[in-house]
Amino acid sequence: MNNPLRIALIGGNSKLGSAISRLLEKETDWQLHVYSSTLQQSVSERIFCKHIEYADIKKLKEEFFEVRPDFIINTAAMTNVDGCEIQRQEAWFSNVTFVEQLARLSLIVESHLIHFSTDYVFDGAKGPYTEQDQPNPICYYGKSKLAGENAVLKSHVNNTVIRTNVVYGLTTNDQSDFVQWVIKCHEAKQTMNIVDDQLSNPTLTDDLALSVKRIIEKKRCGLYHIGGNTYCNRYEFSLEIAKIFHLDESLITPIQTHSLNQKAKRPLRGGLINLKAHTDLGIQYSTIQEGLVRLRHHMYEINQE
Ligand SMILES: NC(=O)c1ccc[n+]([C@@H]2O[C@H](COP(=O)([O-])OP(=O)(O)OC[C@H]3O[C@@H](n4cnc5c(N)ncnc54)[C@H](OP(=O)(O)O)[C@@H]3O)[C@@H](O)[C@H]2O)c1
Repeated sequence: MNNPLRIALIGGNSKLGSAISRLLEKETDWQLHVYSSTLQQSVSERIFCKHIEYADIKKLKEEFFEVRPDFIINTAAMTNVDGCEIQRQEAWFSNVTFVEQLARLSLIVESHLIHFSTDYVFDGAKGPYTEQDQPNPICYYGKSKLAGENAVLKSHVNNTVIRTNVVYGLTTNDQSDFVQWVIKCHEAKQTMNIVDDQLSNPTLTDDLALSVKRIIEKKRCGLYHIGGNTYCNRYEFSLEIAKIFHLDESLITPIQTHSLNQKAKRPLRGGLINLKAHTDLGIQYSTIQEGLVRLRHHMYEINQE
């Protein structure tokens, strides 16, 4: 009998990281080593959780020499778009330097590196984008993520880079995404101004986790665009959230991006065409209706536990 695959997951407490560990624990017999700066405890017999500091690459190297992972999945990143615009050094370290170090380590321990990137590598002039479209980031987050994905794609390690956008799904208490934010605002009866000029195809974390599983099973390399099957603006997405979760739509008002005066520029026509991932990985990506209904069902199940 073959030994089960060994997977190292970096950024275990991220939205994506928690969805990936949940799915791999449920649907595989793989051994999962989760590295996180915030998670402290192993959550099951097959999930070994270890504390890391991202600046301590020596410790990670020792870990990888011991574990010898077949695959390393990196979900850690500085994801606060306006924060990246201001704290550029920190953003470059997390989104580029750390990724370069990971690529080097992956080569040394002969692991396949799977890394996440974003549609913010594009300028948003003519999305949704294919893998062949030319990146042209307009904010520092996008620039740093582009440099990070290039560090992986141009390395000599077996690698896969997944670009995704507007991620939502089941979260733990200390994470928040757009859907949870809309729900919390409604619970607090707060009004919301939501932009109607930013377009994307929101992506369910469960679909991304399944994509990672298929990439591992099929040992796929290269660049993949992964997004959901509804292309819409943020205001339309919030109305759908209100519909599926029975919230008060009148609390939501459409506005335009420029009125927010944010530090970082946002790509307006963003989003990613998922045709390659759909055909190659055999996955039917969720529409926002399907994704939100599934999320509501999961949240209901958890409340019943
Ligand atoms: N969320 C989206 O809508 C979206 C869209 C496009 C692309 N992506 C990409 O998908 C990946 C995962 O995103 P996510 O939304 O799941 O992430 P997230 O929930 O924002 O979590 C990011 C994780 O990275 C680690 N981290 C936080 N600050 C860090 C820092 N300064 N340096 C290094 N690591 C740090 C933390 O992990 P620990 O607490 O476990 O240490 C944190 O939980 C990222 O590469 C992101 O760029 C996300």
